[in-house]
Amino acid sequence: MQGQMTTNPIRKIIIDTDPGQDDAVAILLALASPENVDVLGITTVAGNVPLPLTKKNARIVCELAKRPETKVFSGCDRPMQRPLVTAEHVHGKTGLDGPVMQDPTMALQHQHAVDFIIETLRQEPSGTVTLCPLGPLTNIGTALQQAPDIADRVQEIVLMGGAYFEVGNITPAAEFNIYVDPEAADIVFKSGISVTVMPLDTTHKALTTKPRVDAFRALNTQVGNMVAEWTDFFERFDKEKYGSNGAPLHDPCVIAYLIQPDLFSGRMINVAIETQSELTLGMTVADWWGVTDRPANAMFMGDIDADGFFNLLTERLGRL
Ligand code: BDR
Ligand code: CA
Repeated sequence: MQGQMTTNPIRKIIIDTDPGQDDAVAILLALASPENVDVLGITTVAGNVPLPLTKKNARIVCELAKRPETKVFSGCDRPMQRPLVTAEHVHGKTGLDGPVMQDPTMALQHQHAVDFIIETLRQEPSGTVTLCPLGPLTNIGTALQQAPDIADRVQEIVLMGGAYFEVGNITPAAEFNIYVDPEAADIVFKSGISVTVMPLDTTHKALTTKPRVDAFRALNTQVGNMVAEWTDFFERFDKEKYGSNGAPLHDPCVIAYLIQPDLFSGRMINVAIETQSELTLGMTVADWWGVTDRPANAMFMGDIDADGFFNLLTERLGRL
């Protein structure tokens, strides 16, 4: 609804990310939407590729958006209790494979990402900062472990991760972001914070079909061309795997939800994380059908107005 887009207050957000082409598009969408979100900082984490690349890639994206003043922080270089698993098979060696890109010149902040998250939540008025994790939940889980007092101060966590009907993408049972650091995810889902989840069930409906990618290219801008080239690169993997018409643009769903929540629908349910089983490690055990008496702890999205989402995204990218 148009009214909803203009009347929602500006939300202060921290984007926690492991860019990743789809993370990059999410960052661009946020930086292009100052009337909806105020990006207090971008905290990077190891995930799709190791930390040295994710912290570099986040700055490449800020410079592409002509926002070099954005604060970018370096965070955890490995999951809380496990060795790192990466996804170069999807995102390429750099994490942003596709177009040729210059190394960034903007500075990285000196403060550790986890300290920035804790300090910001303690400094800002309680209930006014939303966390937007787009990668493994290591930075957020570590912050909550080090400073349990911040849980009560978070407005909401809106994250990309997990799956129920779609089950898994990195293993038959688990989605990548949750699988990489299940202990961190477990902390988040048990934190009592209001959590909104964009699982594969939703993001697999946000496909980069040819007309949608043509619309990015038709913007005829550096950003439009870059996003189209990123998409061309990473969609080869999903097209081959799923036989679909394009790749899911996972992470921008998180930012789109903050801008236009009525694009999404879901259910308030209980979500628990499997941390023990070797076979189903990182599974989001989502009680979609309400068959347990476990209390609801998350808004688990199941559907998206995909055309509305791509229209919003293309319009916003056109501003950069
Ligand atoms: C998630 O994993 C990464 O490959 C993407 O960036 C996204 O955050 C999808 O499972
Ligand atoms: Ca990601």
